[in-house]
Formats: sequence, C-alpha cells, structure tokens
Amino acid sequence: MSASPQAPSAQAQSAPAVPHKRIVVGVAGGIAAYKACTLVRYFTEAGHHVRVVPTESALEFVGKATFEALSGNPVHTGVFSDVPQVPHVRLGQDADLVVVAPATADLMARAVSGRADDLLTATLLTARCPVVFAPAMHTEMWEHPATVANVATLRSRGTIVLEPASGRLTGKDTGAGRLPDPDEIGLLATLLLERADAMPRDLEGVRVLVSAGGTREPLDPVRFLGNRSSGKQGYALARLAAQRGADVVLVSGYTTGLAEPAGVDVVHVKTAEDMQSAVTKHAPQCDAIVMAAAVADFRPTTTVASKIKKGSGEPDSVALTKNPDILAGIVESRRAGRIPASSVVVGFAAETGDAQGDVLTYARAKLERKGCDLLVVNAVGEGKAFEVDHNDGWLLAADGSESALEHGSKSLMASRVLDAVARLVHSGRE
Ligand code: C5P
Repeated sequence: MSASPQAPSAQAQSAPAVPHKRIVVGVAGGIAAYKACTLVRYFTEAGHHVRVVPTESALEFVGKATFEALSGNPVHTGVFSDVPQVPHVRLGQDADLVVVAPATADLMARAVSGRADDLLTATLLTARCPVVFAPAMHTEMWEHPATVANVATLRSRGTIVLEPASGRLTGKDTGAGRLPDPDEIGLLATLLLERADAMPRDLEGVRVLVSAGGTREPLDPVRFLGNRSSGKQGYALARLAAQRGADVVLVSGYTTGLAEPAGVDVVHVKTAEDMQSAVTKHAPQCDAIVMAAAVADFRPTTTVASKIKKGSGEPDSVALTKNPDILAGIVESRRAGRIPASSVVVGFAAETGDAQGDVLTYARAKLERKGCDLLVVNAVGEGKAFEVDHNDGWLLAADGSESALEHGSKSLMASRVLDAVARLVHSGRE
C-alpha cells in the first residue's frame, strides 16, 4: 500500500472500464444452454466481439441460427468446418476470454483429459487467456467424486470454475447445480478482463458476513425514510467472496431488485434494527464482517398504524430517534469478547469534502472513530458511487496504510477489498 494515495483523475472516472474484447462463449449440452443466449447478449451489448462454440449436443437445445443471429458470427461445432481459417487453434489463441456456460459434467471431464475432438475442446486447449466454466447439472452429478475431482483439477490448472447456484433444477427437484444467473456470469467474467487474477480461491474455509443495500424506516403503512443505495457494491462483495471460496451470509436491505448471488445465503431485512439483529446473530460465527449497507442513521420515533392523511393545514413535523450504529456495535462486541478477537471488520464511508476538510481527512477520522480494521472510502455526489455500476476511492487500514482504489467496476473494487480482507484473515490465523 502506498503512503499517500492519489485521487483517481476525472479522465479515469469517465473512461470505459473494459475496452472491447474477443470473447468465446462455449456452450455444452445441458438444458441451461438456452440461458447462454442471454449471456451472448450481455457481451455483445457491452460491445465485445463474440464467437459462440457449442458442442453438438448443445445444438439439441438451441439452434445454430439463434447463436449466429445473437453473436453476428458463424457457428461451428467440429474441427473440419472452415478449415483454411484453422479455427480449432485460432479461436483459442486469439481470445481474450473463454466462458463455457453451461459447463456440463461431461464437458469438464473432457477438458480435464485434454480431449480435442470437437471445436470447443480444441479451443480450450489453445486458449491462453482466462477461462471460466459455469457448471450446470443435477446435484448428484455435481457432488459425484468424479466431478469433484475434475473441478479440483481444473482449478489447480488455473481455470475458474464458478460455484453453481442452488434452486430449481430441471423438473421438480432443487439443489446445488443450477447455472448462475447469466448477468452474474457476465459480471464475473468481465471482471477477469479488468483483472485476470481477481478470482483466486484464497477464501476457502473463511466465513464472511456482508451487509448490503439500504434500510427503510417506516413512517406509516405506505411511507418510509430510505436512501439511494442500490446494493450493487455489497452484492459484488458477497458474490466475489463466494467465488473465491468463502462461506458467505449476505444480510440484505432493499436493493434495486438485484438477484441473489450464487452460492450465498441471503437474509433479507427491512429496518436498521432488523439488520442489527441479523448481523448480531451471524457475526460471532464469521471470520470477516464487511458492512457495505447504507443504514439509516435515524428512524421516525413513532410509526403510525394507519396512513397519515394530507389534511388541510401544515404537515406535522416528524420526530426522529437515532438508530444503533451496527458497525460500532460489532467493534464493541469484539472488544468485549462476544465475537472472536481475530475477526476482521470492514466499514464503508461515503464522504464529501467541505471547507473544513477533504474526503480523506473525514475518512481518517471515521476509521479512528469506528475502530474497524479497514475502511473503504467513496467520494460521493456528482453521480458517483450511488446507483451506478462503477466506483473508485481509497482503502484505509487501521495500521495507517492507505491505498487508492482505481476506477473500475464495483466487482473490481470488491476484488481489491477482498485481497486486503484475505491478507488480514490469514495473518490472524498464522
Ligand atoms: O457513520 P456512517 O454512516 O458514515 O458509517 C458508515 C459505515 O457504518 C458503513 O459501513 C455502514 O454500514 C455502517 N453503519 C452502521 N450502522 C449505522 C450507520 C452506519 O453499521 N446506523
């Protein structure tokens, strides 16, 4: 970490996070193949050049014409089509990213044994860029020792094998093995274009609590005091922590309708007091507590049971009561021994500067006051941080070190924060 971080420049703030890239979308033969259409759309709408490479059996589920129309490029499955262009080596060599979604048990087994008997497996052998597998299969297949060993082998070779989601599978059965939401695969895959080493499995066995979103404090049955938090930064942290191997509990307030991240236990809460109960319940079992939620500082002193009428006169003023500071409570619990002394506590600060001090001056004072180990600082206002997809700021640590968090996606910021969390968790375990 550098001693005096530089504020990210205005130019960097307006630059696109990822220049357009060449992406190969591999599609294996599972029912979730239809979701690959949405993923192809995700990449083409971001301006990337996409080549779809299905297996023969994938075409049993989705027609070749669909993939050609969505990608705007020809689609082949075998190594003997378009031979003068040598696509079986070119596609992999030229790719900036390969994403296989869905990756079936069979496709992973073939990748492990280095087969090259169709265009997709040949492409996998020649690719030197980040390769992401998004598995989708029945729970029994996902948990079978053969698949478990194949996933471990692929990961040991540097392939990113995403954690599947849990939920409804084909037919009436439910369990782990569902393809993550295509937007989620898109977000995670695009992160690798920003930072190829953003998804190490360095949080295996680490229990992480993340709070996210905004709380709502009811005034009457239809009105509340809320805030502009979208939940995107907290969800990015929870999603990525799970993909880095952590067991994650996400305590979520209100968001802009974000889907639950794959492999994460989500506890939905409404008010600051609900959030405090959920955080207090789960924190003692966690190694890291990351408080990204925008918690209302005040709530209406009374919640009226029936809707407040407009009436004809001036409106009544609203009396407010201070909400608990959940983060300060966690730090106090750690001091008092109610949660392990080794747990790592991370706070967030959305700051603006004024005549009395700049953003960093206020942030340093907040780190001191809150007593957490790390403070993620965002400069807010002028369309920054809230509701948008990109972010930048600073990471301040209790040991006095400070580093700039460069402009990029909220996933990129999450990856930098999790690097620091992983370092602190592992240093506490030594
Ligand atoms: O004091 P301020 O609201 O700026 O602090 C922000 C940090 O404190 C965030 O990490 C937020 O999740 C946490 N917080 C809290 N309880 C509150 C207010 C904020 O835990 N009542």
